[in-house]
Amino acid sequence: MASPPRFDIDVAAFWQDPYPTLSKMRQQAPIAYVPQLDAILLTRRDDIVEAEPNIEVFSSHQPEGLMNRLMGQNLMRKDGEAHLVERRIIFPALSPKAVSECWRSQFQNAADHLLQHLEPKGTADLVKDYALPLSAEALKSITGLIAANPQDMDAWSQAMIDGIANYGGDHAVEARCHQATASIDAAIDAAVSRREETQDQSLLSVMLRADMPMDQIRANIKLVISGGQNEPRDAIAGATWALLSHPDQYSKVVRGERNWTHVFDEYVRWISPIGMSPRRVAKHHTLRGINFAPDDRVFFMFGAANRDEAYFSEPDRYDLSRDTTKSIPFGAGPHFCAGAWASRALVAYVALPSLFNRLKDLRLDESKPPEVGGWAFRGLLSLPVLWEPA
Ligand code: HEM
Repeated sequence: MASPPRFDIDVAAFWQDPYPTLSKMRQQAPIAYVPQLDAILLTRRDDIVEAEPNIEVFSSHQPEGLMNRLMGQNLMRKDGEAHLVERRIIFPALSPKAVSECWRSQFQNAADHLLQHLEPKGTADLVKDYALPLSAEALKSITGLIAANPQDMDAWSQAMIDGIANYGGDHAVEARCHQATASIDAAIDAAVSRREETQDQSLLSVMLRADMPMDQIRANIKLVISGGQNEPRDAIAGATWALLSHPDQYSKVVRGERNWTHVFDEYVRWISPIGMSPRRVAKHHTLRGINFAPDDRVFFMFGAANRDEAYFSEPDRYDLSRDTTKSIPFGAGPHFCAGAWASRALVAYVALPSLFNRLKDLRLDESKPPEVGGWAFRGLLSLPVLWEPA
């Protein structure tokens, strides 16, 4: 039995591109303590798949964590029955039935509306002008905060993400996060006061109908905004970039050999929008001969697992022909993403086919290279594109 080996990383390089470091970790130290992140990282798929369901050891309850302190204790920071009770309550808002009967047509309307405005222009930053507002419109419907402004939705989400990663205690970051959560509380109060909106299938409505205490409702709405805005945004822009920069793969879609679901599934394997999910060790445990002690911080590195050579040959390649069923971009345990069906419908059934069908000769703007960044959350920061204006 041994303590986890130490593995040092260059944080700036890790943010630019975590994959070379994660590959080294998988080979040399698949369970390792990274002092720069003050956490033990699990980078092999099998280790994460074994550890994540073991909630007695790898607990989501992190009372001292920044997420609890800044956003309230949402269902993602609970274990066992306490988690399940809330998961069951929100299910009707995110179930496959809700997605196909309520949300998909609303997603399509939002995409059509955005593309109608874009089509005559011939040029855009696809992150800012399509992926971001479309993701926000979808989230407005799902949460029930339909009066929110899409740019605000994105800014709230980013402020909370920055706040919960603010381990250095930067006051300005914390203040922005408090401002965002106060604005969300105000938006919730306004939506609750418009009683008719509580009759729909939105998250706010299903939680109100179940008489969930108001502080839990607020915490869960904040969770869904922090976790449901940037990932679909990054998957829409990222999958578009993947196709435009891999014409050989795009031609498989054009020829009908692969479909938009393959495009989405392979993208979230290749560049996982959520690269990591944290846990707190609740009691002594040993995994692969490595000791874990109470209160150790553990990061399940989903992005690393999805490039594990044991499951994916040439894992750094974006390859639509591969089998992605062993990838875990949505997690591998009881906290499996509650928004997975909504995301697939938004990205694979609506956003990508609508974009590629509507904008003729869509291509990268070679004069402005796209920017990519992040490791806990990873995605395109900008994606300049051109097409033939209609
Ligand atoms: C491409 C899009 C998305 C990806 C890749 C993604 C990925 C993830 C991941 C990795 C987790 C943590 C799983 C774990 O720790 O085991 C998670 C949790 C969660 N996600 Fe997503 N997500 C996406 C979109 C969404 C959307 C659109 C929503 C809601 C509208 C959403 C709602 C949630 C919720 C509520 C949880 C917490 C579940 C729980 O604790 O039981 N996600 N997601």
